[in-house]
Amino acid sequence: MRILVTGGAGFIGSHLIDRLMNAGHEVVCLDNFYTGHKRNIVHWLGNPNFELIRHDITEPIRLEVDQIYHLACPASPVHYQYNPVKTVKTNVIGTMNMLGLAKRVKARFLLASTSEVYGDPEIHPQSEDYRGSVNPIGIRSCYDEGKRVAETLTFDYHRQNGVDIRVVRIFNTYGTRMLENDGRVVSNFIVQALRGQPLTVYGDGSQTRSFCYVSDLVEGFIRMMNNPDHTGPVNLGNPGEYTILELAQAVQSQVGSGVDIDYKPLPQDDPRRRRPDITRAKLWLGWEPTVPLQEGLQKTIEDFRQRIEAAG
Ligand SMILES: NC(=O)c1ccc[n+]([C@@H]2O[C@H](COP(=O)([O-])OP(=O)(O)OC[C@H]3O[C@@H](n4cnc5c(N)ncnc54)[C@H](O)[C@@H]3O)[C@@H](O)[C@H]2O)c1
Repeated sequence: MRILVTGGAGFIGSHLIDRLMNAGHEVVCLDNFYTGHKRNIVHWLGNPNFELIRHDITEPIRLEVDQIYHLACPASPVHYQYNPVKTVKTNVIGTMNMLGLAKRVKARFLLASTSEVYGDPEIHPQSEDYRGSVNPIGIRSCYDEGKRVAETLTFDYHRQNGVDIRVVRIFNTYGTRMLENDGRVVSNFIVQALRGQPLTVYGDGSQTRSFCYVSDLVEGFIRMMNNPDHTGPVNLGNPGEYTILELAQAVQSQVGSGVDIDYKPLPQDDPRRRRPDITRAKLWLGWEPTVPLQEGLQKTIEDFRQRIEAAG
């Protein structure tokens, strides 16, 4: 198949491309390199099945493809808050452009949505039926509400234009190739521990998160895209729930640096608890995560260690 991956030079997109290329597909990677990097896909350059196009999805593009994995959007608060208007444009105009493309060439379209559509949830764990508690005017809204509109557009293109859609809601995912400076908790802790700096914990560290290793997530993407029956939305994430302090301790013990913890005030709209209900993914896709936190952390720490050493 000929498959388009938007945001393909990013963290999750580049792992997805590895899987698709190894399965023998033709892959077109579309990216404006805002948070993506050529180093993530450099190993495919020159392969006749691979094509890289530098393109901003807020502009339309004409391509012939069978499937579209739509991931283009900065995912970490540091990057999506840097230019919030652009984040909204990417989610709204960019998603409309990609849905328009899917409609024209009759490609199946998978939207990479997010657990942020649940906001600061009042129910726990979150199932797909929960409609969310999102602040429409906060500093995270450009991303949270942007993704909610992206979901709305996807379902409206399906109902109005018959576009064949799939929607996945991704919960915290981590792994190799995450950016060092993206401000997300796993990368923050690992970089700080490797540099022998205190780990920054916002609030008292009792807030919980779930952590899904990237290879598990990619498996869920591919199963959802190729399931014949369900549009979604479907939650993809690891239901194992850890407090931020537990994560800090896990990183500390793996890096073995014995560093301290530096407590800072909680940022605005930071959700207190987040854990996916993955009943639907199990039922529809036979999917559940397989990589334990310790193992995923080990691989991620090794990748960061190499990059930090290479950078001197
Ligand atoms: N990583 C997570 O934990 C997580 C959680 C929930 C949802 N997601 C979603 O998954 C997708 C991928 O996330 P990621 O963690 O790989 O982030 P990432 O920032 O590494 O990847 C996003 C990619 O999109 C590209 N991009 C951004 N705006 C663009 C534009 N206007 N035109 C073209 N390319 C553009 C970036 O350059 C980058 O390569 C995002 O849509 C994100 O919202 C990720």
